[in-house]
Parts: sequence; C-alpha cells; structure tokens
Amino acid sequence: MTQDSALLPAPKAIPHEGPNEALRDGSNSRKVFIKTYGCQMNVYDSTRMSDALARDGYEPTDDMEEADLVLLNTCHIREKAAEKVYSALGRLREMKKKKAADGREMMIGVAGCVAQAEGEEILRRAPAVDVVIGPQTYHRLPEALRRAKQGQRVVDTEYAIEDKFEHLPIAESRKIRARGVTAFLTVQEGCDKFCTFCVVPYTRGSEVSRPVSQIVEEAEKLAEGGVREITLLGQNVNAWHGAGPRGEAWSLGDLLYRLAEIPGLARLRYTTSHPRDMDDRLINAHRDLRALMPYLHLPVQSGSDRILKAMNRRHTAAEYLALIARIRTVRPDIALSGDFITGFPGETDKDFEDTLRLVEEVRYAQAFSFKYSTRPGTPGAELKDQVPEEIKAERLERLQMLLLKQQQEFAESCIGKEIDLLLEKPGRMPEQLIGRSPWLQSVNVDAKASQIGDIIKVRITGTGTNSLFAERAEAAV
Ligand code: SAH
Ligand code: SF4
Ligand code: F3S
Repeated sequence: MTQDSALLPAPKAIPHEGPNEALRDGSNSRKVFIKTYGCQMNVYDSTRMSDALARDGYEPTDDMEEADLVLLNTCHIREKAAEKVYSALGRLREMKKKKAADGREMMIGVAGCVAQAEGEEILRRAPAVDVVIGPQTYHRLPEALRRAKQGQRVVDTEYAIEDKFEHLPIAESRKIRARGVTAFLTVQEGCDKFCTFCVVPYTRGSEVSRPVSQIVEEAEKLAEGGVREITLLGQNVNAWHGAGPRGEAWSLGDLLYRLAEIPGLARLRYTTSHPRDMDDRLINAHRDLRALMPYLHLPVQSGSDRILKAMNRRHTAAEYLALIARIRTVRPDIALSGDFITGFPGETDKDFEDTLRLVEEVRYAQAFSFKYSTRPGTPGAELKDQVPEEIKAERLERLQMLLLKQQQEFAESCIGKEIDLLLEKPGRMPEQLIGRSPWLQSVNVDAKASQIGDIIKVRITGTGTNSLFAERAEAAV
C-alpha cells in the first residue's frame, strides 16, 4: 500500500439533495476541504466522510480559503508523516485567525491514524483544532462537529463497537459517476500481525472483515454508477474472511470469484497483501478470473531471514520466493510490486546484501522503499543496534537505484505488446486520454472523452518518465 502523502482535494461530490441543515438554517451551504495523507484506505475513508458530511449540507471544495471545515485525514506510519500534520496545523491556525478577524468561522478536524495515536495530545499541541476523530468512528463525525459548534473540543477515538460502514451512507449513482471509472472499496480494517516496526495495529485496531453482503452491495452500487475497476482494500486484505451464502467459510479468493460476477465490473484488484495469507484459493483466482488483474503488491520488507524474524514477518526469504514462483506458475504475466525497509535495527551490510539479492531474483515491476523510522510504542523502537541515519540513507539509495532499473526494464518490456486499456481520464493534450494497463501503468493514447470507461485494445509504443505511450491496435494494423 503506498503512503506517498498526497494532497488530494475533497472527493468531488454533487451536493446532497435531501434534508440539509445548513439550507434549513437559511444560511449558505457549508464547504469542507479534506486533505488526505497516507494509504489508499485513507483515500477511501475521505470519500466516505465526504458523503456523510454531504447529508449535513457540507459541499466539498478544493479551495481551502473558502472552507468552513478543514479536515486532515492523517497518516502515522513514519515520523515524517506525523510531523507533516503538525506543521499543517500550525498554518491552519493562522488561517483560522485571519478568517475569524473577517467574521468567518473555520472549524478544524483531525481524522486518521495520527488522530488515533495522539488523541488528546493533538488538542494540547494544536490549540486551533476543534475535533479529533479516529478511523473507526467516522460515522460519528457529523455529531462530533455539532458538539464542536456548541463550543466543545471533541476527541472521539474509541474503537467503536458498531460497524462504521453500516452507518456511513453509500453515495448515490450520480455522485459515483462523477468520481470516475475506478474506485476503492475497503473490505477489511485493522491488523493483527504486529510487525515490530509498524503502528497500524495500534492506529487501526484489530482485524475486522466486512461481511460479504455489505461488500457485494457496495460493489454493485459502484458498478451501477459506471465504475469498471474496483480495488479491494485492507492493511492485510488477503486475511479477509467471511461467510458465503450457505454459511461456508470464504477467503478473499472466494470473494473475488463472487465479485467477478457483477455485471459491468470488468476489473478487480486488491491491496495490501501479506505473504502469509496468500492461500490456494486466492492464487487460483489469479489463474481463473479474467477480471482479476495480473498485478500483485506483496511486501517483503527485507531479504534477510534474521531481519525478517526480528520484524516478526513470520516467513523466510526462501518461503517468499517459493510463493512468488507458485503465483508465476499460474499467472506468468503477473507484475509484482513490493515494500522495503532499509536500516531496521540490527541490519548489517550482509543483511542488506540479502535484500538486494532477493530483489534481483524477483524482478519487481514497481516498488516502494523507505528508511526505517522509529515509531514510539512499537517493539522496534526498544531494540538496541539502531542503524545510523547515513547508513539507512545509503542503503535506501542503492536499493532504489536497483528498483528503478527494474521498473524501467519492466516498462520497456511492454513495448510492442497489445494490451487491454481501461480509459480513465483526460490526458494532457486534447483528444488524448490516460488509461490504465492491466499492470497498473498509466498509458497515454489518442481517444475521445466520450470513451472514458471503455476498455480498448492498444499497442504500447514507448515509455515516458512515469507513463507509457500507446496507439490504437486496430489503427496500427
Ligand atoms: N500491511 C502492509 C503494509 C502497511 S504499511 C504489509 O504488511 O505489508 C506500508 C509500508 O510502510 C510497509 O510495507 C513498510 O514497508 C512501510 N513501513 C511501515 N512502518 C514503517 C516504519 N516504521 N519505518 C519505515 N517504513 C515503514
Ligand atoms: Fe503493519 Fe505488519 Fe500489519 Fe502490515 S502486516 S499493517 S506491516 S503490522
Ligand atoms: Fe498511514 Fe494509517 Fe494508512 S498509518 S499508511 S494512514 S493505515
């Protein structure tokens, strides 16, 4: 799962048509600006919060200046990510003051994993914040805002007993359509794995799977709204489990077979997977389901057994490689992606060389790599032999050079191939669209805006910095 902290405007939404408190008040409708940091699960949550707020008359805006509510949906995965939130809150405090001087109120809310991890501490460090709300209580956000309006400073970071998804509205078809032809759908929350470097089990709580009926209903609504590709999300998505129609135990593989039956839904993906939870049913789904895209994000973190053990990943490098070999046997064209950490406590040059060797062996199409960041409260933070920053950085650079080379080699290997392209959005030039390849690459091709949502045959003709170029396969004949 990527955590490139992204500045995303509030998901576009058409204002809700139902009862609207702001309009009832006679005031203009209110505006919310949502800034999303962190992984795709946060992106998904921001959409759901936006929908819940629409019911209360909040329209999304991508101009912070006009916002009545600024919501930061935060990430706690590495130190830098958390610090970014506090510096953003410093700037927001000034903006709030300036608006107040003009007689305008601006509320500030902090959601996401920093909210969960820091709770009250945020109110102490950032006096301008009105609401702190953890990832499992978003359905209570409108209520928290009402209390904040009455002058309370609200912290709601309980792990709610009720299921937040049951209480969050699914957007109506028109709104889904306005958001595009690809969508995320969280099927699983939290994590029970407790890797020793990671905050997620503490910020998202223990592992919970959403029931099949809820997921199918949401996927059907998305498909009815024109969505052609759904990415199922979970921090440990392949640990998802549920019950089929006769009460039989289902794993993620079974769920994918079911979702592949939904009319209109052409493509399925899932992320992020743990190597320990890749069962046969899921591997076979890659063999059997046309809709399941040949792309797998399967983080390994390190190629050294000693470090994998210290990280509590619960598998060896050889087991990971054997798993990749099995997956490649059933789906030879699968593109692999991974996550890596350099400089975990105790990592020696030899351990790092093992990581490079593993990377050489796997040949990744795409990868994310990070310097180890000490997270207070995790077992890794207590370990002796913390690796100096310069060494972490040096190793990261070497690793990234290798990964980048593999990424380019993968992109170049696509030249000349004829592929299915899902046309997704307008390109930079008129009459050009950007589509998605089965391997999650952005591909530029000449096509009309009316074709967005179509899947067409193209031939890859070249590579750019972060994208590919293609021509229509028919035109090339
Ligand atoms: N659940 C996923 C990953 C979740 S976090 C998995 O098990 O693979 C996403 C990535 O952030 C991790 O794969 C890891 O590479 C990185 N990461 C997590 N904690 C980190 C830390 N303390 N320092 C550096 N990178 C970290
Ligand atoms: Fe973090 Fe490990 Fe859980 Fe992934 S599996 S979220 S790295 S604890
Ligand atoms: Fe970050 Fe929380 Fe996602 S810590 S990576 S936003 S689960």
